[in-house]
Amino acid sequence: VQKYSAVVLGAGGVGKSALVMRYGKNMFLEQYDPTIEEEYDLTVEYEGKRSRLEITDTAGVEQFTGINESYIQKGMGFVLVFSLIQQASLKDVDHILQQIYRIRGGEEDIPIVVVGTKMDLTGEREVSSQQIQELAVQWGLPFYETSAKKGWHVNEAFNHLLGRMRRR
Ligand code: GTP
Ligand code: MG
Repeated sequence: VQKYSAVVLGAGGVGKSALVMRYGKNMFLEQYDPTIEEEYDLTVEYEGKRSRLEITDTAGVEQFTGINESYIQKGMGFVLVFSLIQQASLKDVDHILQQIYRIRGGEEDIPIVVVGTKMDLTGEREVSSQQIQELAVQWGLPFYETSAKKGWHVNEAFNHLLGRMRRR
């Protein structure tokens, strides 16, 4: 089977690990345990085809140190994660995007999906659908509102990325 790799990037506590855990193990992580680095080696099936998907879950707290550089160099695709209940985390996505385009130079069509998390926490929401839709258009990137807790749109986001990587 063909092998692909995805790197999950985003600010601390936005829900990267919960997202990957929901996708990879169909479980929800209630506890917040800051990540150092976690690798998942998954076999996934999408569009009638099986693939190996290696996912790197990164540390949000070290987001703006040089550490991102090596992740950005090695990833075939990227999941850029922010929290729908934390406006500031959206700025970090913009920053990471700039890092990707800088580090990967003139590379075209890098598979990237933007994911907003914690959609179930409706009462605490800070980022509107309209705001993120406008940004996604500006970036030219697909966007998903998700809940790892409820399992909403998590598979869709990763499948979209896998599809993009397959069609490169
Ligand atoms: P770092 O590893 O430090 O970068 O954090 P992270 O981005 O991996 O965040 P993590 O997945 O550990 O989630 C942080 C907290 O948010 C945890 O307590 C999760 O249970 C909670 N959380 C994550 N996703 C959701 C969600 O979809 N809904 C709700 N209600 N809580 C969530
Ligand atoms: Mg984590």
